[in-house]
Amino acid sequence: MKKSNNSGPRNIFAAQCKRWEEMETASLQGQSSDPAEDGTAAGRLMIRVNGVLHDVKDEDPQMPLAEYLRSILHLCGTKTMCHEGGCGCCVVVIEYDDPVKPEKRMIKSMNSCLFPIGSLLSLKNHQVITIEALGSVKKGLHPIQQRLADYNGSQCGFCSPGFVMQMYGLLKNNATPGAQEVEDNFDGNVCRCTGYRPILDAMKSFVKDADIRLRGSFTDMEDLMICPKTKWPCKRSSLGEVVPCTGPAEGSTSKLYNKDGIKWYQPTTLTQLYLLMQEHSREAVKLVHGDTAKGVYKGDGPYKISIDVKGIPDLYKVTMEPDGLKVWSNVTLSSLIDYLKQYSDQSPSYNVIARHLLKVANGPVRNAGGWAGNLMMKWKYREFVSDVFVVFEVAGAKVTVSDITGLNTYTPMQFLDVNMQGKVLLYVEIPKLTEGEKMNTYKIMPRMQNAHTYVSAGFRVQLRAWDKKQSVESISMVYTGISKHFIHAVATEKYLQGKDITCNVTLQGALTILEKELIPDDNNPLLASAKYRKSLALGLFYKFFLSLLSENVVSPCNRSAQYSLERPVSTGKQTYCSKPEEYPLTKPMPKLNAHLQTSGEAQFINDLLPVPNELFAAFVLSTEGNATISTIDITAAMSVPGAAAVLKAKDIPGSNTFVPPPMEVEEILSSGPVLYAGQPIALCVADSQHHALQMVGEVKVTYKDQKPPIVTLDEAIEKKSFYPPPAKEILVGDPTGAISVSPCKIEGELRVGEQYHFHMETQICRCVPTEDGLDVQASSQWLDFAQQAIAGAIGIPVKDINITTKRLGGAYGGKGTRASLVACSAAVAATVLCRPVRCIMDLSTNMKTIGKRHGYIFKYKVGFNEDGTLNGVIITYYCDNGSSPNDNEVGLALFFSDNAYKCKNWQLTPIAVKTNRAAHTWCRAPGSTPNIFVIETILEHVAKFLSLDPIRVKQKNLYAQGDTTPMGFVLPYCSIRELYSSQLTKVDVAGRLQAIKKFNADNSWKKKGLAVVPLKYCLFWTDGYYLCTVSIFASDGSVIVSQGGIESGQGLDTKVAQVCAYALGIPVDFISIKPTTTINSPNSGATGGSITSELNCLGVKNCCEILRKRMKPVKDKLPPGTSWKDLVAACFKDKVNLTAQYWVWPDPQPRDAPQYNSYGVTVAEAEIDVLTGENQISQVDILFDCGESMNPDIDIGQVEGAFVMGMGYWLLEKMIYDPKTGEVLNAGTWDYKPPFSKSIPINFNIELLKNAPNPMGVLRSKASGEPPQCMSCATLFAVKRAIEAARQDVGQDTYFPLSGPATVSVIQTSCLVDYRNFSI
Ligand SMILES: Cc1cc2nc3c(=O)[nH]c(=O)nc-3n(C[C@H](O)[C@H](O)[C@H](O)COP(=O)(O)OP(=O)(O)OC[C@H]3O[C@@H](n4cnc5c(N)ncnc54)[C@H](O)[C@@H]3O)c2cc1C
Ligand code: FES
Ligand code: FES
Repeated sequence: MKKSNNSGPRNIFAAQCKRWEEMETASLQGQSSDPAEDGTAAGRLMIRVNGVLHDVKDEDPQMPLAEYLRSILHLCGTKTMCHEGGCGCCVVVIEYDDPVKPEKRMIKSMNSCLFPIGSLLSLKNHQVITIEALGSVKKGLHPIQQRLADYNGSQCGFCSPGFVMQMYGLLKNNATPGAQEVEDNFDGNVCRCTGYRPILDAMKSFVKDADIRLRGSFTDMEDLMICPKTKWPCKRSSLGEVVPCTGPAEGSTSKLYNKDGIKWYQPTTLTQLYLLMQEHSREAVKLVHGDTAKGVYKGDGPYKISIDVKGIPDLYKVTMEPDGLKVWSNVTLSSLIDYLKQYSDQSPSYNVIARHLLKVANGPVRNAGGWAGNLMMKWKYREFVSDVFVVFEVAGAKVTVSDITGLNTYTPMQFLDVNMQGKVLLYVEIPKLTEGEKMNTYKIMPRMQNAHTYVSAGFRVQLRAWDKKQSVESISMVYTGISKHFIHAVATEKYLQGKDITCNVTLQGALTILEKELIPDDNNPLLASAKYRKSLALGLFYKFFLSLLSENVVSPCNRSAQYSLERPVSTGKQTYCSKPEEYPLTKPMPKLNAHLQTSGEAQFINDLLPVPNELFAAFVLSTEGNATISTIDITAAMSVPGAAAVLKAKDIPGSNTFVPPPMEVEEILSSGPVLYAGQPIALCVADSQHHALQMVGEVKVTYKDQKPPIVTLDEAIEKKSFYPPPAKEILVGDPTGAISVSPCKIEGELRVGEQYHFHMETQICRCVPTEDGLDVQASSQWLDFAQQAIAGAIGIPVKDINITTKRLGGAYGGKGTRASLVACSAAVAATVLCRPVRCIMDLSTNMKTIGKRHGYIFKYKVGFNEDGTLNGVIITYYCDNGSSPNDNEVGLALFFSDNAYKCKNWQLTPIAVKTNRAAHTWCRAPGSTPNIFVIETILEHVAKFLSLDPIRVKQKNLYAQGDTTPMGFVLPYCSIRELYSSQLTKVDVAGRLQAIKKFNADNSWKKKGLAVVPLKYCLFWTDGYYLCTVSIFASDGSVIVSQGGIESGQGLDTKVAQVCAYALGIPVDFISIKPTTTINSPNSGATGGSITSELNCLGVKNCCEILRKRMKPVKDKLPPGTSWKDLVAACFKDKVNLTAQYWVWPDPQPRDAPQYNSYGVTVAEAEIDVLTGENQISQVDILFDCGESMNPDIDIGQVEGAFVMGMGYWLLEKMIYDPKTGEVLNAGTWDYKPPFSKSIPINFNIELLKNAPNPMGVLRSKASGEPPQCMSCATLFAVKRAIEAARQDVGQDTYFPLSGPATVSVIQTSCLVDYRNFSI
């Protein structure tokens, strides 16, 4: 530890201090010394957004920029969802002068949900650029907006502005990025709809050497040139007044007060900072740099004093000193990475650190957040898995801490014990490696991007070469993710000193000691298992150890341990055919609203401006899982500013249920009994969302009669906690007998977890009382249901509830019955308080309160012949329904039990299990996705039992035309056998299997696998009922359409418009699809089950046919070639009714058979890292029968989106519950991991089956929204095949079940890695 001489600075401090005090006074009195430069002049605190200055002196400086943009400036193109830096939909670009090189502009994409508006004042000449500044449909789109739309890169459109802004940030820094750079750029953006491929393609079309396929006919690269004068893209119209810059002048200090007495300071010199720290040395002070830590530790604070350090230029310095790089504390992670790369010739470790830091968080967080804030998080929360800490500690970095009295220097580890009260992290010195030193670091995460680590490790060693050997002079081994206190593997470090690393004895000796000293924490359900983390830590050391050895020393099969999986730039092919003669039907075209979506103009409910007197509602959730409410104390909540009311069950004017009869009651607010942790028990209503959430924190609830909740399926099965049978057991033939006489038999058990829908627009509804009853804007997939539920809850007739839904920001089943919880709550509050009320669930509430895709345990017995032919199958399905049986799916699941396989004897028993969890609900391809996985597993199990190739065993059992399913349905048009064999040939399965076999034999620590999954998916139309209306305007022939389905990103409106245009023989742009309402489409059924698009297309087609029939007599009288407009006018004159309506509700097929079946085959190939469990899906080829696609662009989008959502389910997304209360623990983006853009297959090829008209479909088409998802389990099986290869190496070539999700940790554990097998 070094103490510096601080007498010099102290004197300077004193002088500066006086000056600062004068400045502060002047500033507070609005008498800045330099009004031209100082944005605080005349008491004004100006921030600039899209070229316009706004005074924020009356705002809370801590207010997130997103909130300011949306609520104050009404710039709602910027969306918000997670409010924690984890989803990217709020990304904006912020420009400012480089604090150390003012002539240089910094241009950074950042998460506006985290960035506080006060901080903008510290950035000189700042400018916030939002999606609105780029372009609009009326004024013209920016090329990025245009391409994203044209490449079909938006479905629901909620994520689109974030992607556009993230790309804009990249291109403003580098107009000609490479493809890899573009793909790397999106490590902070979630899209749940598209499967990312079209987004990446759109963005890669900006790459200079873009694939010709991607470049298309765009010629607008030069549009991205930035005008040096206005700093805006050239060729643009004016973006409003560009005024002189803002930002505090050197030497001034601005000080903002917010209403609640919180002080916010903005020093511009270190002296000012020290003095402020000294002045407030007894208070809790928050230094604000990027302010991103609050995305991780939301509960941090509250702080009365915030000091924004961003305005201190001295803290941005970076210098290359003789000993290494000296980096001051305002340097962001992004800049640090850039500097490390810039100086990488100085030390090989700099590249290593840069590579590691690139895996921290995501681009926008790294652009705002700094290394100092990260280290402080580690200082404050010892369990925080800080990557910065690991790399600094292993690199031998020293951090310098200062206060007004002077400086002290520490190692990162020593720093953890420093009293930081009143102190500042000043700089870090990162030394160069010395001669003979080698260093590497590793970070193993649950997902390739934007994920905190399971275990990170860093190793630095000084080696001495002698006589063909290498011995360790010194070694540093640093870990995070093991336990709060475990940092250095001290005993192993000691052991290794002086040891020769070219022999196995040293390796094993070190591993044995390391194994003993690694004692992982095992008491946090959010962490991966202790067993995994320990094994991983050993594996990482092994990787490093081998990397020190020259190639000829390491045996060839072990070399694969030395490198990590490398993901190349992704690619993919989309193959389909269309019929130009039928255009616009079958035409691949972007969605009607795509441009509105990518420009951020598409309005979602939360984008609606508040109406006068509007209130906001937020739920108080139960923290117990099985109890009775004793008291609810609202006193403190009602004293929150803006509080309007706290509503309880007794305040509900009608029935306390958000599901209409005959469904079982599900209470809107608990009347006493608590069925699960996360259940709403009160509703806080206030003048803003912020205040409503603040109130929630102040409501105090006590409970009585607490009983242990049933939180797992196993417990429920043991206690026989079941609902009444949801469907009849299916018994076909004599399965028990068939199994008993079969030459081969197996039995097994398998599980699948739950999946959160992860719609980017969380549950939301706004209710406005009117003279006509209640006007409701609901984000619901089922308006009729919500209408009945609201009517019941507030006790007024259904006719008085008017619901409108223009679009959903994603739904995937989560906004079916569940959407009426927020709808009823908003309606109750609006009715009781006689004011408009908006109820929006934040992500955490949404994840805790609303059920997910049902979890299952499956138990099976199977009998079969020696060639793998199935004789009898018995499966029991234990389906977790949670606390209500209402959205039961297990009955439906039976229809998919057989997938594509024939067997004469079946017994399928559905059991609906009752647990103390939120009632689970339908999620994209409900029932089918998990249940197809079971039969696929059974076939895999059969194959393994017989040591046969599962691909062939599956092929043997496939249905043939005319076969009958266990539900008794004959398959009249079954083509699965042909599809299966043609796909095997087309994608060269045999050749690839050979190559994989060789690869696996040659490599011990990387393994590959390939799997094939066929599909038969039955589509039923019986529950699809919708009212469609088509009206032609007499004056100009334009057409409006209303239909009963809800546009939720699936392209419903576009397909309907295409069908309407085709049926009437007019261009698509004559047609407008109006929002769905209960006025124009009453009684319409739910949007779901993949059938909504086709049935509404059917309804609209029939409307058009009615109209054409009515118009025909008039048309026949007119001369050929009469224009549409004239024809319509003539019809009107002839008193033709130009509005037609059609009620679609197809009759069931004979014996309730499906309307038709969809078929498909997927081949997936995976590679895994055995030592870590990391994996990537190298290639997926999907052949899908979509009939005659109405719009191949949309259908391909559905296939990709569904498949990638399925991949998330099988490989990534794991719900974690508190074992004691059942509360969802991972309710946020930090711990719940849906796929990101690098989770998708590297080579992703989709083919829509050609020449496959569907005689039973609407206009010969087939559904595409859900069926493809059921083949996504192919990715899990491909991974499983790779795991099998690893197990073969350790002599465990037997069957093992691989349940879903097979996360990185599960994969590694399944590989049975044993450090005792590690060798050179
Ligand atoms: C979505 C997301 C993902 C993330 N993923 C990772 C990850 O994978 N690995 C990882 O290691 N981290 C991760 N992080 C953490 C991230 O790296 C930190 O949030 C960031 O580095 C903090 O820097 P900041 O400048 O924003 O700090 P701030 O939020 O501004 O400050 C954080 C704390 O540091 C204090 N502080 C700031 N500057 C100083 C200073 N100079 N001297 C003394 N105290 C100071 C503040 O008072 C505050 O207490 C993630 C964060 C988010 C939001
Ligand atoms: S809302 Fe900002 S990252 Fe999610
Ligand atoms: S289009 Fe990306 S989330 Fe819907």
